[in-house]
Amino acid sequence: MAASIVKRVSRVKKLNVSHISARYKLLTGSSHFSTSKQWNKALVLGVYENESTDSIDFTGTARKFDEKADGKISQLLLTVKKPLKCGKTRTLHAVGPEFSSVLVTCIGKRGEGYDELETVDKGRESIRAAVAKAVLQLRELGENEIEVDSCWDTEASAEGCHLALFSYDDLKAEKSRKPAVRISCATRYSQDKNSMEKEWRKGAILAEGQNLSRRLMEMPANLLTPTKFAEIVKEQLADKCEVLVRDKDWVESMKMGSFLSVARGSVEPPVFLEIEYKGTQSDSPLALVGKGVTFDTGGISIKPSQGMDAMRGDMGGAACVAGSLLSVSKLQLPVHVKAFIPLCENMPSGSATKPGDVVTAMNGKTIQVDNTDAEGRLILADALCYSEQFNPSLILDMATLTGAIDVALGAGAAGVFTNSENMWNKLQKASVRSGDRVWRMPLFNHYTKKITECQLADLNNIGGSRSGGACTAAAFLKEFVNNKNWLHLDIAGVMSNSGDVAYLGKGMSGRPTRTVIEFINLMSKETNN
Ligand code: BES
Ligand code: MN
Ligand code: ZN
Repeated sequence: MAASIVKRVSRVKKLNVSHISARYKLLTGSSHFSTSKQWNKALVLGVYENESTDSIDFTGTARKFDEKADGKISQLLLTVKKPLKCGKTRTLHAVGPEFSSVLVTCIGKRGEGYDELETVDKGRESIRAAVAKAVLQLRELGENEIEVDSCWDTEASAEGCHLALFSYDDLKAEKSRKPAVRISCATRYSQDKNSMEKEWRKGAILAEGQNLSRRLMEMPANLLTPTKFAEIVKEQLADKCEVLVRDKDWVESMKMGSFLSVARGSVEPPVFLEIEYKGTQSDSPLALVGKGVTFDTGGISIKPSQGMDAMRGDMGGAACVAGSLLSVSKLQLPVHVKAFIPLCENMPSGSATKPGDVVTAMNGKTIQVDNTDAEGRLILADALCYSEQFNPSLILDMATLTGAIDVALGAGAAGVFTNSENMWNKLQKASVRSGDRVWRMPLFNHYTKKITECQLADLNNIGGSRSGGACTAAAFLKEFVNNKNWLHLDIAGVMSNSGDVAYLGKGMSGRPTRTVIEFINLMSKETNN
């Protein structure tokens, strides 16, 4: 487990909340550990759903524990009539001297797997949810050292607990923060401890990537400015990646007029991040592009104030890119990745872009900005153009781009727009494994026509009507891409979790970071990456 990094943040002091700054934790995995702490050990065991009232269908690990405890666990479970149902738990105490609590959690029916209609691996999802519930209940009981059953999928089990234990409470008083919990895999009765530990580590790293995304998204925009985002990413990735922080002068020299037109309303300077991970020497990297609007007020086309605080998460695409790179580099995947992250605030001010203004993107195309709230596509246009200069084998961009994708899909799946059937199949395959779903959306000419009908310039930044809003946004981006393997993920609908995903708490979700990591993993197995 990564040690806590305690940082003093000068901005916090300026805001006159200096009591926070002294213990301000920057990007800690799951809180701090003190050496004097009393460890309370607990065990999580899995059982399958089973109608019988006189036998328990244990997982392999759980059966061994029950045998070693002379059948006490099954005895105790069978003292009540009703068998455990999927998602339900039972907590036992005083089973033996080693654990103060043994929590039995039901992981659903034996043999569950891919569900075609749900486009998800149900078995893996049930494990994630079941262990998540278990570790949270044990934390409530004050347990702080938990050994967890691998169930039959060690990686999914590790993902579930590491994702569930995440909480962003760095800015709260000590007493209202969640206590630190140490989790490990119950490997003692395993035939092959090494491979089990390896899988556990992989699951933990996948979750760690998503947790970095969540933390970045959740951070308030006064603390996470474009400059600060770059600083944190550098700190997190610098030992395994090359991180270049480009300033406004550089952005100007690249003639990224579309990106600059968004940044100009704010006093916070824009930053363009360029990150490289070289797990191979391939000369055609995989390109990742992420929307990094650290706060979106809408600009002069200002948003209504209700719920506007959520727009601190409008750098979700950028956060997913950073989180994915963290995991890819920690897993040392044999792949060459280059990432491009335009970062700025979208603010209304005397220097802000006005509706009807015309700006010029890096590729020379002119854009009439009829709505300054359609800013994501403006900053991505230049980032996509720039990424093409590196001969990428594919380009994957992620952006909290439109409210329309939320209307279409809600939090059920991220919307995917791609010109490649092959890429679509790979991404979908990745999402079945991760449980963080994707759904394909169209890139018809029908939508392109809506944004090329423009009075003053080559393109209009809005489609003219609300219809098909996510599709017209994607059609706009398409005008800046030539690559034959391009995928655009509209992740506005999955930006936050309000209880839909059982193993993610409420708040910014960090979705679909694990899907992207799995996708990169799949691509690393292809030649030329
Ligand atoms: N950042 C928003 C999209 C968004 C909405 C993200 C809800 C997360 C949750 C984006 O910049 C935006 O404002 N889009 C506009 C586009 C419109 C003006 C064409 C929208 O969706 O309303
Ligand atoms: Mn906007
Ligand atoms: Zn936005």
